[in-house]
Amino acid sequence: MNKDHKVLYSGMQATGNLTLGNYLGALKNWVGLADEYECYYGVMDLHSLTVRQNAPEFRAHARELMMLYIAAGIDPEKNVLYLQSSVPCHAELAWILNCFTYMGELQRMTQFKDKAAKHADNVNAGLFTYPVLMAADILLYQSDVVPVGKDQLQHLEITRDIAQRFNSIYGDVFTVPEPYIGKIGARIMSLQDPSKKMSKSDENPNASIYLMDDPDTIRRKCKRAVTDSEATIAYRDEQPGLKNLFDSYCACMDKTPDDVVKEFAGCGYGQVKEAVSEAVIGVLKPLQDRVKELAVDKAYIDNVMKTNAERAYYAANKTLRKVKKKVGLTDIR
Ligand code: TRP
Repeated sequence: MNKDHKVLYSGMQATGNLTLGNYLGALKNWVGLADEYECYYGVMDLHSLTVRQNAPEFRAHARELMMLYIAAGIDPEKNVLYLQSSVPCHAELAWILNCFTYMGELQRMTQFKDKAAKHADNVNAGLFTYPVLMAADILLYQSDVVPVGKDQLQHLEITRDIAQRFNSIYGDVFTVPEPYIGKIGARIMSLQDPSKKMSKSDENPNASIYLMDDPDTIRRKCKRAVTDSEATIAYRDEQPGLKNLFDSYCACMDKTPDDVVKEFAGCGYGQVKEAVSEAVIGVLKPLQDRVKELAVDKAYIDNVMKTNAERAYYAANKTLRKVKKKVGLTDIR
């Protein structure tokens, strides 16, 4: 395949409010990748339908996520930012790939098992084939690299398996993607239980800092963050709550753990928490201001969604037409 730049693909689900973890772990690190890669970032609204959504809220969230991408500094002229559902090729390719994916493979997905247990009243087929839609997302754009968190590596692995299986039957149709190994974002944990990842679906609102939280809320959540009773300043696994606060601080201030341990030597945890909340506010405030500005410029966002969806469609449809031809579907155009 002849490409000037390697293709990089990623995206986030359009559900709920993004957290500080999503920002420091992913979004922040996507800025600037466009210098090196042809970047596609989706707002994964089709994936969100695996959980029942309130339609008006859901639509607003998808739009807000688009604005957050832009507010974070991902330029919609240099990157392709689009809503997954606005490019019909995703659902079409997902169907075809469903027919090249085995039940047994999907049954092994740990995220499916976790989500099925969590939403026992709605274990729908979409939840089961979620990884196939994700494979379609990635393969449509001939993606070379995919930045994903640890929890999505298994989905990237099945994407590779599906791509290789298809290629072994039909020739080189899909680029087989690799996980993106670059500057890895911070892994921010829950403020209430530092053994689990900060999550937008945590039932405890004090566990996560949301990107749109106001300064007082951020201060209050940091103040309540779980630490330990050792009362020593150190960066180590034995003090996971403090370590998580330091990780957040480092990511916000672009500092290293060594710097930070020195900086806070002799301080109490209260002082650390105060400094962390101010660092977080310093990072989130400009982002929030930018989202508010974008929110009033309705025509601008509408235009970005439309033009970027066209750019995405152009690339995706090239792959889809090739796939349809290979499997023997009729092209009437
Ligand atoms: N499943 C991913 C998540 O929850 C979101 C996602 C959907 C994605 N399609 C993707 C990520 C394609 C990377 C590439 O985080």
